[in-house]
Amino acid sequence: MLYSAPARVTVHKHLDEATTLRILNAFAVDLIAIPSVEDLFWYVAQNVVGQLRFVDCVIYQANQDQTELTQVAALGDKNPYGRNILNPLRIPFGQGITGQVAQSRNAIIVDDLLKDQNYIPDTQPARSEICVPLVSRGRVVGVIDSEHPDPGAFGEAELEVLTTVAAMASAKIELLAEAERSKQRYQDLVKSHAQLSEEITNRKALEAKLFEARKLEAIGRLTGWFAHDFNNLLTVISGNLELLDADITQPLSRAGLNDARTAAGRGAKLIRDMLAFSQRTRLNPQMCDPNRLVTATCDHKNGLLTRPVDLRLTDDPWMIHVDPKVAEDALVNLIVNAQDAMPEGGRLEIATENILHTFSCNQTLAIDLTPGRYLRLSVRDDGEGIPEERLQKIFDPFYTTKPVGAGTGLGLSMVFGFMQQSGGTVEVQSKVANGSTFRLYFPAVTSNGNGLLTKTP
Ligand SMILES: Nc1ncnc2c1ncn2[C@@H]1O[C@H](COP(=O)(O)OP(=O)(O)O)[C@@H](O)[C@H]1O
Ligand SMILES: [Mg+2]
Repeated sequence: MLYSAPARVTVHKHLDEATTLRILNAFAVDLIAIPSVEDLFWYVAQNVVGQLRFVDCVIYQANQDQTELTQVAALGDKNPYGRNILNPLRIPFGQGITGQVAQSRNAIIVDDLLKDQNYIPDTQPARSEICVPLVSRGRVVGVIDSEHPDPGAFGEAELEVLTTVAAMASAKIELLAEAERSKQRYQDLVKSHAQLSEEITNRKALEAKLFEARKLEAIGRLTGWFAHDFNNLLTVISGNLELLDADITQPLSRAGLNDARTAAGRGAKLIRDMLAFSQRTRLNPQMCDPNRLVTATCDHKNGLLTRPVDLRLTDDPWMIHVDPKVAEDALVNLIVNAQDAMPEGGRLEIATENILHTFSCNQTLAIDLTPGRYLRLSVRDDGEGIPEERLQKIFDPFYTTKPVGAGTGLGLSMVFGFMQQSGGTVEVQSKVANGSTFRLYFPAVTSNGNGLLTKTP
């Protein structure tokens, strides 16, 4: 075995130096357009045989661990069809001529394979062999190997040509690896950009939610303070109206007194709603059957229902622990709104359902709700619906779209405050021209407490 090439007559003497240079030059230009390492290996094999007139050319690729070579491209008598290797040969580093080149990273020329103990004869044994390493960034990427049926077929000229080919191929492999790395970096960047965008969106949604909660809290405090003071004034007015009642006999004065009483009554309702919104209502919770709460409201509130109502009450509702009077007020507010939304008439439906709210249900609710058992009381209409931009405002106190005198804008604020104070929540779903559904979630009372689930880690 020879580790350096002896000077001797080349078997490729029909290729003069100029032609060889021209071929190598064309080879360098072609390399630019080659898109992958696999294509590169086949291109090299094809050109070493087709252009540079070597009898055959086999290319082996090294694995990541630098322990094994695998045949990846071959052209010549043994593989005349190209781009089709049926049983790719695997050679451990250090074994055979190719394995030794991979390990030592030095080219080898063997003059007579019959005298070489490392040679593993093939079906068509060769007599001489040349093998050069492909090295990129200090690692062995593979080897280029060529055999010849005659002994002493390879010399200095072949070594120089094949080493040049290997150097050019190695440079291209480095470029392809760099392109792959920057593609990966770009993909990583795209991925982290998407993650960042998602985080920003989530954060913005969270900030909006927090802002909304803080806003309602601040207005609630102000409203509560105002309602409290105003209530004191109203108590004085109502008390004095009662005292006057006994003294007044004139019919005209009595009519005036009645008007004053009605106005004071309205004022009292306004204050109740404001206190409820600011969660300052003095609640008197009792165990209630929600179905009875619904039927009682519909029966007792004279003149409330202006059209037939479709009651869909569950057979065996869970009990709730609420102030029945305030709960009735909340239901009345929803019924009034539903009927106002259907001036031409329409379908009004009131339903009760037992709901098991799980950890994964929260995204459909405007307000976070502790997972657990709830009694859901829904009021549905098929009226005008609420446009998206209004949905954000309807729970704000004094927000109304109704004409002056027709609405106070406190109905839904009262419902919101009361539901918060009762440990539940209110949810709305609406579509313009398709009606609205308001759902009240009351924590259900079960045999083992309030039915709320605790999160297990
Ligand atoms: N069922 C409904 N259909 C359509 N719009 C509704 C409905 N309920 C409430 N709204 C809208 O929400 C606003 C606020 O309601 P609310 O707080 O009860 O005050 P008010 O009824 O005095 O206007 C209403 O003015 C209306 O625009
Ligand atoms: Mg209302």
